Amino acid sequence: MSTDAIVLLKEDHKEIRRLFTEFENAGENATATKGRLVDKILELLTVHTYIENECMYPEVRKLLPEVEDDVLESYEEHHVADVLCVELSMMKPEDERFDAKTTVLIESVKHHMDEEESEWFPKVREGLGRKQLQEIGAKMIELKKKAPRKPSQPSALKKAVDAILS
Ligand SMILES: [Fe+2]
Ligand SMILES: [Fe+2]
Repeated sequence: MSTDAIVLLKEDHKEIRRLFTEFENAGENATATKGRLVDKILELLTVHTYIENECMYPEVRKLLPEVEDDVLESYEEHHVADVLCVELSMMKPEDERFDAKTTVLIESVKHHMDEEESEWFPKVREGLGRKQLQEIGAKMIELKKKAPRKPSQPSALKKAVDAILS
């Protein structure tokens, strides 16, 4: 199994996109299904954001200072998504604003993942060696085991701030 950091993160993106599509196709009245899908989306996003904030972004920032601006923009995009995730985690699928908030989350995360894949990953792949990417990937696999799974867990809430201020 490859531990290449970019391969791992793209696999996560693919699964997240699959759930987004399921949500979008669920239909107006599929309240229970949409609630279940959002639970799963929030879990995957919480884990994914955590391993990027705690490992991928700081490691790449350290090794490749020229992509610093991309990293800082990504932290901000994660932060916006975090806020929506926390709010959604406190809502019920029956709430009037549940679908709308989920749609905004989906739009903003899609934009962020597209940017990572089309602009950021190619720069990182070019700047780092295969071995470095495999080492970062191996660290992220370990980190996933202790990652928060709910947006309301303190380690999920504080992560973006800590990553920037530390
Ligand atoms: Fe990201
Ligand atoms: Fe990502």
